[in-house]
Amino acid sequence: MIETPRLLLRDFVEDDLEALAVLMANADFMRFSSGTLSHEETERFLFDRVVAPARAGLPSQFAMIVRAENRLVGYCGFFRQVVDEVNEIEIGYRLDPTYWNRGLATEAARAVRDYAFEKLKLERVISLIHPDNRASRRVAEKNAMKLEKETNFRGFPTLVFACVPRDLIAGDGEAKRAIIFNSISSPGHPRHSRSKQLRSILASVPPQEFFGQRLIGFCAAAVRVVLEDTFPKARRFA
Ligand SMILES: CC(C)(COP(=O)(O)OP(=O)(O)OC[C@H]1O[C@@H](n2cnc3c(N)ncnc32)[C@H](O)[C@@H]1OP(=O)(O)O)[C@@H](O)C(=O)NCCC(=O)NCCS
Repeated sequence: MIETPRLLLRDFVEDDLEALAVLMANADFMRFSSGTLSHEETERFLFDRVVAPARAGLPSQFAMIVRAENRLVGYCGFFRQVVDEVNEIEIGYRLDPTYWNRGLATEAARAVRDYAFEKLKLERVISLIHPDNRASRRVAEKNAMKLEKETNFRGFPTLVFACVPRDLIAGDGEAKRAIIFNSISSPGHPRHSRSKQLRSILASVPPQEFFGQRLIGFCAAAVRVVLEDTFPKARRFA
């Protein structure tokens, strides 16, 4: 189970079937897929593709619950995929359209990415996105993913976005800003978990790269975390 400021990401259970079937019958929820699913198809998806792998101890999808309403609003988590004959772990997400454009998918995807690197010790995660899916591309960018290539996946043109732990410190531009200054200092992020994240970033940087701007970037983030923990009200002005 993963907690973020607004979301609970937990394993799916049998009782989620009805709420999930409503979502999967919604054409907007199912955009950029092969279409909506019937109740029976949702049942097969839930048990074969989500619950069974999770029970076998494999990375799987989490039910996305809005904590304030205790409501299932979608899923975010892992699919095992074969892309261009290579086994990959994909971070995938779908969200109830009522909740779009509030930053929820990004909040979930970042937490799932951190879980992949910190808990599952994965060396790489990807996201597979149709080129026309602007919202999903934006979520991937905000999740520090880099566009790696375009390919054909199950008959569709597909962008492969990828992220490795090193990108969380060695990335430039958007990735560095997102990770160093947003993720670490996100409101409500408990102190111990931000410190843990800093330690994990530190551990993922090869020593020979730990110079120059990267060192300065890391130190700036560390100073900011310490200052925010010491003077919590200062966060308002950050
Ligand atoms: C993709 C999806 C999960 C995004 O969820 P979300 O909670 O709205 O995402 P966020 O709010 O975290 O971020 C969305 C970003 O896309 C941007 N965006 C949304 N629609 C857009 C569009 N048509 N063109 C360009 N940008 C768009 C938003 O402005 C936001 O970026 P910003 O923070 O820089 O302003 C949601 O749209 C969805 O479930 N879509 C259908 C299923 C799907 O496509 N899943 C992904 C399959 S790869």
